[in-house]
Amino acid sequence: MNAPNLSLKGLDLRAEIDRLRKEKNAVILAHYYQAPELQDIADFIGDSLDLSRKAAATDADVIAFCGVRFMAETAKILSPDKIVVLPDMDAGCSLEDSCPPDQFKAFREAHPDHIALTYINCSTEVKALSDIIVTSSSAETILAQIPKEQKIIFGPDKNLGGYLARKTGRDMLLWPGVCIVHEAFSETELLKLKAQYPGAPVLAHPECPGHILDHADHVGSTKAILDYALNSPSDVMIVATEPHIIHQMEKAAPNKTFIGAPGADGNCNCNMCPYMALNTMEKLYIALRDLQPRIEMDEDLRLAAKKSLDRMLDMAGRTVGQGDVGKPIITGA
Ligand code: 13P
Ligand code: SF4
Repeated sequence: MNAPNLSLKGLDLRAEIDRLRKEKNAVILAHYYQAPELQDIADFIGDSLDLSRKAAATDADVIAFCGVRFMAETAKILSPDKIVVLPDMDAGCSLEDSCPPDQFKAFREAHPDHIALTYINCSTEVKALSDIIVTSSSAETILAQIPKEQKIIFGPDKNLGGYLARKTGRDMLLWPGVCIVHEAFSETELLKLKAQYPGAPVLAHPECPGHILDHADHVGSTKAILDYALNSPSDVMIVATEPHIIHQMEKAAPNKTFIGAPGADGNCNCNMCPYMALNTMEKLYIALRDLQPRIEMDEDLRLAAKKSLDRMLDMAGRTVGQGDVGKPIITGA
């Protein structure tokens, strides 16, 4: 395929994207880490769980996914009859990169008595090798439904896994992956900021390492952090996750001040997700115009990955504490 013509000077991209969205019966889904202009043009903005649910339920013909590749692949797994386009196919994820399927398979085979509870930030191949997928917003609910005696492998994020292990007391074997963005926050700089804004709550994503989470007043998914920020009586808050989420906070609560937690150099540029940043308005326009680049996958692989995702969607919707906890619902992948 020829490289797309990127000389788009003079086009009103907002209007063109709107026109194409109607013409192609497309829905634009965006993650909170996308650039503000992509968030603003999206039909729906959400965390990984809500975006998966939206992708599974849409009646659009085309899903234009403004997020990273594993999110767009999840949309395709759950909605195989839709055309799913990702503005930049290089929009990967360091957690996915940290977990090559062949190594994950070997790890599983070395622990045959463990089930694999796997963070959604992984490849379709790793999803196919897993028993249950979790997102940061559903992990605790799902973990609470797994019998206490069941041994668990958790991958690929050792920070999310460590947080869950500390919070629930579950002993899990952790895959040693990290998110390069959340790893970059500096505890020293965070403490300086806390001293500068005494009383300002710290809101953190569980992909942050433990030494950052130790200073957090609230730990949660992007959506949970946003909800907390909007409902908090505080006027100033420190946000320890990818800073583009602050766009939604400022839109919904313009009178509050949201400060991005700093990296080691004292500014937060190192905490911008370089993969999310690959998507732009120009590339979204081209993706809708050409219906490329498109997510495609082998059908057997899709069906294998769908099993673990379907378990997530089912278990994430259950209410813990109403008879589900400890029920032996896992039978293996
Ligand atoms: P959420 O599911 O909380 O939106 O997280 C996705 C992600 O990639 C965070 O780095
Ligand atoms: Fe992956 Fe981290 Fe970017 Fe999220 S912020 S997509 S975990 S690299």
